Amino acid sequence: MDTRFEIIRLLSDGHFHSGEELAERFGVSRAAIWKHLTHIRDRMDIKLFAVKGRGYRLAEPLELLNESLIRSGLSDQAQGLLDRLEIHDQIDSTNSYLMEKQAEKDSASGHVCIAEQQTSGRGRRGREWVSPYGSNIYLSIGWHYGLGLADLSGLSLAAGIAVARSLEAVGIEEVGLKWPNDVLWQDRKLAGLLLEVSGEHTGPSRVVMGLGLNTRMSEVQGKEIDQPWIDLASLPGGSGVSRNRLISTLLENLLSTLSRFEYDGLDPEIEEWRRLDLYHGKPVALQMGKRRIEGVHKGIDAAGALLLESEGQTRPYHGGEVSLRPVA
Ligand code: BTN
Repeated sequence: MDTRFEIIRLLSDGHFHSGEELAERFGVSRAAIWKHLTHIRDRMDIKLFAVKGRGYRLAEPLELLNESLIRSGLSDQAQGLLDRLEIHDQIDSTNSYLMEKQAEKDSASGHVCIAEQQTSGRGRRGREWVSPYGSNIYLSIGWHYGLGLADLSGLSLAAGIAVARSLEAVGIEEVGLKWPNDVLWQDRKLAGLLLEVSGEHTGPSRVVMGLGLNTRMSEVQGKEIDQPWIDLASLPGGSGVSRNRLISTLLENLLSTLSRFEYDGLDPEIEEWRRLDLYHGKPVALQMGKRRIEGVHKGIDAAGALLLESEGQTRPYHGGEVSLRPVA
C-alpha cells in the first residue's frame, strides 16, 4: 500500500500520532512524513491538526472501508450472490475498472468494486462525479444477463429503488427518486446511479451498475457540483450511520435486485417506484440535448420509460441522455 494511504489509515482513529512514531513506523524520515502530511492536507482536502509536542491528528476520525465489517453485514443470500469484493484506496473510476475487467473476461456476476477515492469519477451525461477520499460511497457491481440490451432499460430504476430502500433501512426518512437515476432528499441530490451496458441486442449482455452516494462532503469539495446537493451526515439521523454498514445494506439490496431482474424485470417494482417518485403527477420538463419538452409526468411503463403527457398525448421517453427538471 502507498505510504500516504497507510498514514491516513493510522490517523483515521482521530488520535495524536507523533512525527517520530510515523517516521519509525513507515521507515522514512520525518521530513518525508511531513511531505506526505502536507499532500494529505492540501491535495486530498483532509483536515489535519499539528500540535507541537503531541504530533498530528485528523480533525475528525474517518471511518475507512473495511472488508470484514462489510462482509459481516451480509446475509447468506447476499454472500452467495457476491462473487468478488475489491476495495481500492484510489482508482480512476470503479465503473471503468469493472468495464475493463468485463472486457478482459475477468469478471463474473457479483463482482463488486468500492473505492475510497476516484480520480476520474463519472456521472451521467458526461459529467464528472466529485469523489474525494474517505468520505462518500463509490461502488460498482458487474452483472451478466442472458437478456438483450433493450430488456435492461428498467434496471436502473430498479437499482434506484434498492438504494432508496437501503437508506430507509438505516433510518433515513423522506428519501425520494427523480427519474431516471437520482436519489434526492428535499430536492437535493444525495446519490446518483450510472448504468453502463454492453453486449448483443438479443443477448447476452453485461452491466456495470455504479452508485455514488454523498455521505460526508465539505462545502469546498462540493463546490464543483453543478446542482443542489446534500450529504447523509446533514440529514436527520444521518451522521450516526456507519459507512461500512450502509455499504452492506446497499449490497444486500442491490445484489438481490440485479439477480431478480433477469426473471422479473421492472414489473413488480412499478408500484414501489410510484411511492418513491417525487414528481409523479407534476409538471416537468425533459431536456434531450438541445431539445426541451414540457408536460405532466404520468408515471413509468414496464420498460422504465417516463410517460409524459404533452399537448393532449402521453408518450414514453427512455432514460439515456434525457434529464428531468421540475417546472415551477
Ligand atoms: C449521476 O450522474 O448521477 C451518476 C453518478 C454515478 C457515480 C458513480 S461513483 C461509482 C461509479 N464510478 C463512476 O465513475 N461513476 C459511478
